[in-house]
Amino acid sequence: MNANTTQSVAGELAGRHIVLGLSGGAACFKAAEFCRLLIKAGATVQVVMTEAACQFITPVAMQALSGRPVYVSQWDARPDNNMAHINLSREADAIVVAPASADFIAQLAQGRAGELLALLCLARPIESVPLLLAPAMNREMWAHPATQRNLAQVAQDGAFVLGVAHGDQACGEFGDGRMLEAAGLLEELIAFLAPKPLLGQSVLVTAGPTFEAIDPVRGITNLSSGKMGFAIARAAREAGAEVTLIAGPVHLPTPRGVQRVDVDSARRMHAAAVERAQDADIFIATAAVADWRPANAAEHKIKKDGSGEVPALAFVENPDILAEVAHSPRAQAGELYCVGFAAESQDLLANAQAKRARKGVPLLVGNIGPATFGKDDNALLLVDDEGATELPHASKRVLAQQLVQEIARRVSGLDA
Ligand code: CTP
Repeated sequence: MNANTTQSVAGELAGRHIVLGLSGGAACFKAAEFCRLLIKAGATVQVVMTEAACQFITPVAMQALSGRPVYVSQWDARPDNNMAHINLSREADAIVVAPASADFIAQLAQGRAGELLALLCLARPIESVPLLLAPAMNREMWAHPATQRNLAQVAQDGAFVLGVAHGDQACGEFGDGRMLEAAGLLEELIAFLAPKPLLGQSVLVTAGPTFEAIDPVRGITNLSSGKMGFAIARAAREAGAEVTLIAGPVHLPTPRGVQRVDVDSARRMHAAAVERAQDADIFIATAAVADWRPANAAEHKIKKDGSGEVPALAFVENPDILAEVAHSPRAQAGELYCVGFAAESQDLLANAQAKRARKGVPLLVGNIGPATFGKDDNALLLVDDEGATELPHASKRVLAQQLVQEIARRVSGLDA
């Protein structure tokens, strides 16, 4: 499961009521896991299944996972008014159909209502109850013009169509059309429901350590895990931004919807950041960039020659990515808002204030490096021209969301 998601979801959907619809497909097994994750994230879940879905997984299993009786038939006499389609669609914060089969999407495209699930999608208050579809089907069915036509139609009619994955299919073929994994569905739903203060903004984030080669098998790096930067990239995307994440060598999954550029050395990170900053509105430099690199990386592995002599390493300074971007004409003209991080080991406020002035950024975020490297939590000190604001100890996920809100507030203040 996605590490970003595991780290983050407890209680994130508290108070949300989700109608989880299942139409027929082998991907129904993933809907069971998705249901479990929704419950774990604090949502209440009402499962509605088509007859075809019941061929793949039983309502008993989905009842056990959701803690509520499942609805299948539009003639279900349990509701006093015998109008399950009205009741269920009006109490939902969102309807998520996962899997959404080719046939189900075709029914929606035509406004058909032959079964309870399609009926309640049609009957939902279209302005207030969003409908998310997670397609799942064989690659030929996915690529068929009829399916693509229907997908375009349902999107035009207000449904939000999630992407599909590429890979092995239940039928034994390989290609596009697999349903997203449960963790990916959860990440998409959380992103969909989040407020969008950065809509239309382009955000560039650097994250993780850099790796400075000594020779082809050795190098110098640091303990940065990249978790804070990845969490910020995710939160910025959820807030509506187009996000590019330039990542040093880390073992973290890419947040959904984020464009990732992998680099190793500070110089490569510098080149990637300077190029992409030209189109960005906001630059957030969380990377722990190596200050120095070996002056001459050896072309071949440096060998011991038996004399006991150790190699002498000379260093040269790396480019300061943040300072350079922050002093670019666009940043100076107020078209690019730059945010720096300061990993300190002591005197956080004084060091952060000095670093803010030295880097020439409007906002500098201080944290105690050794206390946070590799961990899932942190505490931040925001320093700008108004003074210092503390974001007290919390998970990196929560801090990233708070920081993104703080940045959005400052950026929209600039625009106003
Ligand atoms: N930074 C950068 N390029 C560098 C060094 C740092 O973009 N070559 C950025 C970091 O991403 C961070 C900020 O500058 O946003 C501060 O990084 P930090 O390592 O705390 O500061 P340094 O400038 O390296 O200063 P020092 O190590 O002396 O504290």
